[in-house]
Amino acid sequence: STQWIKAIARDEVPEDDVIAVHAGGREIALYGVEGEVYATANLCTHGNARLCDGFLEGHEIECPLHQGRFDVRDGRALCSPLRENLATYPVRIEDGVVFVAL
Ligand code: FES
Repeated sequence: STQWIKAIARDEVPEDDVIAVHAGGREIALYGVEGEVYATANLCTHGNARLCDGFLEGHEIECPLHQGRFDVRDGRALCSPLRENLATYPVRIEDGVVFVAL
């Protein structure tokens, strides 16, 4: 069953940028894009790199290691060398707190 885990205060999520948090024993990347918050796994599906160290442009996060790009809305791998999509997590905002469903 879905568990909503408290991740971070809403105002700590940077606009047009990414921040990593630990929630429910996992490492999650949170993105602020156009006033919305999106959550994905923080580890790239291609190798040992953290997306929180990458570069966010619009809805696309670029991995810092080989420049693979994912869409943060659905985790879709957008280019090589990526082969696997990224896990995404539903986000809910309540009383100024970001919750993710794990
Ligand atoms: Fe992310 Fe290679 S580790 S693209």
